[in-house]
Amino acid sequence: MQELKNNGNKAKRGRRVKQGEVARVIEYAGDCLFIRIKVPVTERSAFNRPGAFIFIRYLENTFFDVPISVIYEENETDTIGLLIQMRGVKTNQFRELKKGDRVFYRGPYLNGLLGKKEAACVHDGMATVICRGIGFFPSLHVIMMLAKNRNKVNIYMDKGSFDEHLLNTIIDLYEVSITETDICDSEGELTDNICGIIDREIADGTRLIHLGLSDYLLKKAIEKIRKADRKPGPFISCINNAHMCCGEGICGACTKNPDPSRIIHLCKEQVDISEYAGVI
Ligand code: FES
Repeated sequence: MQELKNNGNKAKRGRRVKQGEVARVIEYAGDCLFIRIKVPVTERSAFNRPGAFIFIRYLENTFFDVPISVIYEENETDTIGLLIQMRGVKTNQFRELKKGDRVFYRGPYLNGLLGKKEAACVHDGMATVICRGIGFFPSLHVIMMLAKNRNKVNIYMDKGSFDEHLLNTIIDLYEVSITETDICDSEGELTDNICGIIDREIADGTRLIHLGLSDYLLKKAIEKIRKADRKPGPFISCINNAHMCCGEGICGACTKNPDPSRIIHLCKEQVDISEYAGVI
């Protein structure tokens, strides 16, 4: 609304589709692909914000647009890094990708994290990050922001289908210390281990719990945190797993209705995490 008003009540043009050259492709076991795309150096800093993601495709047809988080990076370069887990019709298009190919992308869009404000206001304290598999990469921005704000960050990770080699690469590259743990048991419930960790971290005074999990586990973890004895409980932030199509708040693919009078556009809106847990 502010942008509309600043623009004389005229809608701005949506983001345009651009072409980028693939500068690097590394394949990891577990169908994971790390790719590096060249972007104009003047636009590079816009991609390195918490919650930044782009829509990217290799094929001409816009149907194949996939929203992928831009990986946190320390240095300014003329490229951005993306980690893609090839799991379906859209992500499988990247299987044949090689250095020098061109891809189509639009963005950056900035709503890939929910609870950004809460995460940004935690300073000089303790924070907890709980991730599973690919959920680690969109969480990297939050981890680095918390570390820069002089917080002690405890990271618990279930590597899921991730390869051990990729996990070690993450630890070496980002110099983070990770405690490996199982988050989900064979019944699809949170394990006793992770429930114990959540209780302990809350009792120890963690001020923020960030969750990099699938919607199914997110809901369970948020319910568990909300039931904790400490009141008020810690802030919660999480990755935004909404199914997105346009990213501009137009098509309605990402909308949820917490009640009949309210529509949330998850591609654009920051929502209260408890409200989010109620609609996923
Ligand atoms: S993705 Fe189209 S409205 Fe959100």
